[in-house]
Amino acid sequence: MTSDTTPDAIVWLNGELTPLADARIPVLDRGFIFGDGIYEVVPAYALTPDGASATVRVPFRIRQHLARLERSLGKVSIDNPFDERGWRALIAQVIDANERAGAIARDQHAIVYIQVTRGVAKRGHAFPAGIQPTVFMMVTPLALPNDAQRANGVRCVSAEDRRWLHCDIKSVSLLGNVLMAQHAVEHDAVETIQLRDGFVTEGSSSNVWVVRDGVLYAPPLSNRILEGIRYGLVEALAEECGIRFVAQEIDEATLRAADELMISSATKEVLPVTDLDGHPVGSGKPGPVYAALYAAYQRAKARETNEVAAIATQEVKP
Ligand code: PDD
Repeated sequence: MTSDTTPDAIVWLNGELTPLADARIPVLDRGFIFGDGIYEVVPAYALTPDGASATVRVPFRIRQHLARLERSLGKVSIDNPFDERGWRALIAQVIDANERAGAIARDQHAIVYIQVTRGVAKRGHAFPAGIQPTVFMMVTPLALPNDAQRANGVRCVSAEDRRWLHCDIKSVSLLGNVLMAQHAVEHDAVETIQLRDGFVTEGSSSNVWVVRDGVLYAPPLSNRILEGIRYGLVEALAEECGIRFVAQEIDEATLRAADELMISSATKEVLPVTDLDGHPVGSGKPGPVYAALYAAYQRAKARETNEVAAIATQEVKP
């Protein structure tokens, strides 16, 4: 166990809540042997609704996350073990178990990690018949970007995208992404922005946004990028802010001439990139489009918090 593993963490594995330290999977699990599985990362904020004093748990954009899980599972022909209602109940159960165990404080933002693999079978590449998926869930603290990163922006590096061509599937086969994340670390950067054949695809674990002359651009959805849950969200927030959004291929020259550059993900929300490969992006400071989108993002969180609180109030009414 590594030193940052929460000792009290409770995980859900194949129908049982169990301490993380006791959770075991057979070595022939196809997730272990082949990376044959799908995952999701859902932020579960602890936020206070308007007019309330206590926080509520807000698994943010949960419907969209569960819909993407269903799509990813479908693309690799793994049966979805639960419907949306079932997943929602399980997520609430695992969060609750971790709060009770003291692994997550009630007022602490969290990440819900969900993994479904094809299951356990004698090693052989093609799908085995008659096996049950392995289902695993854990909850960990969510470390959002710090104030300095928000105020100054972060450094990124660029590299050629050498991953497979099913990046739309949220697969646990992440070696290509792992190598790109390590590339960033080795260059003192928070993320590697990848380009394939001269066009921007995405970060190693984020989507990429470019601003030029007040217009927001992102690569169009395709098999070359993951449809981040924040992809649709940022698009909607841009509309809310009156910022024009265009989904189009972004070549390297456009990337390097950006007025603003941003990355988005469950753990980074939307984050300004002010240095790319050692050169300042635009003015070298976070720009106005970022500021507007970040503020809108926080409003979207507040709206969902109030919705969660309203549903909870309805449920306790007789
Ligand atoms: N990664 N592209 C890739 C390759 C990603 O891994 C991620 C997220 C995104 C953004 O998706 P979303 O907005 O749904 O977080 C785009 C998560 C955070 C992870 O692997 O930990």
